[in-house]
Amino acid sequence: MGRSKALNPELSARIAPASFFQVWQWSEVFDETKPIELELGAGDGSFLIQHAERHPEINLLGVERLLGRIRKMDRRIHQAQLSNVKLLRIEASYLLKHLIPRGSLKAIHLYFPDPWPKKKHHKNRLVNTWFANQCHRLLIPEGVIHLRTDHASYFEQMLEVFSQSDGFTQTSTPSSLLDLKTDFERGFNAEGIPTLHASYRCAG
Ligand SMILES: C[S@@+](CC[C@H](N)C(=O)[O-])C[C@H]1O[C@@H](n2cnc3c(N)ncnc32)[C@H](O)[C@@H]1O
Repeated sequence: MGRSKALNPELSARIAPASFFQVWQWSEVFDETKPIELELGAGDGSFLIQHAERHPEINLLGVERLLGRIRKMDRRIHQAQLSNVKLLRIEASYLLKHLIPRGSLKAIHLYFPDPWPKKKHHKNRLVNTWFANQCHRLLIPEGVIHLRTDHASYFEQMLEVFSQSDGFTQTSTPSSLLDLKTDFERGFNAEGIPTLHASYRCAG
């Protein structure tokens, strides 16, 4: 398989996988070998960029399906001169199912995923049993999934899915992570809507 390199590594953090039909190797994505964390639905990159700045010892991949948001994050990453964060425009489920190597992620961050509030649309929510199984397959033993939402019923679904999975145990979320607010989170909190959060550790 060819290398999934940044389009222009000097100017852009965006990567283009050499194949969308084969599991990649992380050495094709990042130059340096470091523990890898993934953020799904990274939005404007408010968490991704701060987390990458604070943790040069990890590599971070930010995933987002909207091109405008990818471009905005790319500009900010370039301005901050960060080399430990890459971006991929892709649908999160496809990435999890087809591209990421088994047992290779130290952490997955999923913050304020679309809640699909109408009951008939709940089937579109990203967090479900299938998602938990994918997280279990892709995390390293002791790897952690971190979840945040403003939406009480979606939060209940998140807790139900992960607490019913044999492969995970609930763990506390480090305060250093909670300190990093996302763009949507700041908006919700400013309106008085609190953040609901949970973290689950992979039993391996
Ligand atoms: C409500 S916003 C939250 C953004 C950011 N996490 C934050 O908290 O500020 C959800 C983001 O996830 C992206 N998104 C939703 N579903 C996605 C999917 N299936 N794959 C990739 N990105 C997705 C949306 O485009 C949007 O930017």
